[in-house]
Amino acid sequence: MATMVMEKLVCVLINLQQIKEVPRMLTLAAPSMPGTVRDSDVPHYFRERYVCSGYRPLNQGWRYYFLSLFQCHNETINVWTHLLAFFIFLVKLGQLTETVDFIGDHHSWPLLVVILSSLIYSALSATAHLLGGKSELCHYTFFFLDYIGVAQYQYGSALGHFYYVVDENLHRHVQGFFIPFATVLSCLSCLGCCSGKYCNHSLPTCAHKLGQVIPSALAYLWDSSPVTKRLSLWSTDSNDPVMIYHFGQVALFLCCAFFFSFPLQERYFPGRFDFIGQSHQVFHVFLSCCTLCQIHATHLDFVGRRTLYTNLHKSDEAVLFVRLYVVTLVVCTLIAFFILSKVNKRLDLKNKSK
Ligand SMILES: *[C@@H]1O[C@H](CO)[C@@H](O)[C@H](O)[C@H]1NC(C)=O
Repeated sequence: MATMVMEKLVCVLINLQQIKEVPRMLTLAAPSMPGTVRDSDVPHYFRERYVCSGYRPLNQGWRYYFLSLFQCHNETINVWTHLLAFFIFLVKLGQLTETVDFIGDHHSWPLLVVILSSLIYSALSATAHLLGGKSELCHYTFFFLDYIGVAQYQYGSALGHFYYVVDENLHRHVQGFFIPFATVLSCLSCLGCCSGKYCNHSLPTCAHKLGQVIPSALAYLWDSSPVTKRLSLWSTDSNDPVMIYHFGQVALFLCCAFFFSFPLQERYFPGRFDFIGQSHQVFHVFLSCCTLCQIHATHLDFVGRRTLYTNLHKSDEAVLFVRLYVVTLVVCTLIAFFILSKVNKRLDLKNKSK
């Protein structure tokens, strides 16, 4: 027994030794990894306000940007936060498949859409932050993909809330149009975000931020209205354990909105948070926690409110909602590619005039 434990321990120690070797191995694998540069060394459209250093140089090979996952630069934490979130959601999905029959039980599909859409947004966001610094075209392409991710996640949330969280009274009022309207709002927020980024140069910062924030805020208000309604009816003696998670997801989302809109710490201490502490990183952390809370709450409702939601929704309704999810995804992608083609034309013109 003791020898076995010793052997295990030695193995673990050897593995730890190897982890310490990783940075050195990386430098060996990529001897020519260029260092980061200052904001004044990159074109102005790449500069992030109040972030002064840690910018990766442009126009390097793909390998450089992939390997920069292990380098310290202004996007490292943004990538890792959502990469970590992605793996946590994946583990959560794995755990749920042990108890939930995602194939046979149509009523579980909205739950699956919630988790899939969370996986997609976190993966696309991590990719955008990792690869978006390669060139201007990459910047737009990957951030537009990120916006598609956010839009389809909004739809996923709306679906989860409408399916499991809604009460009979609200359901009666919004029945025929809640989900189609969620599709419309998702597409609008994708449009707002993409065109906001496209007009980045021509409009002042607050104008393009508003174009991004207002449609998304509307979508959030609509998509979470079943949660808001349920929270408003919450009395402490109902003693429902899921309510704390619903409360948590709303509170965490409000924190997200705050840090997304107000980069307070870097405004007051420009340059101090170039690597770690930027408000966008705080936003990522809150958003991941919010999603985790939401997935947990959705699962608890999926288990606990079965009689209610199987009464409200026929089982073929879930099939329809999943189809509408695909429609949302496709339309958002078309919108993003339409605006990307305009970006492309503008870049061509710019290159020709050089
Ligand atoms: C980080 O630098 C890249 C260029 O490598 C730039 O595109 C991006 O906007 C910067 N992001 C932040 C958060 O500073």
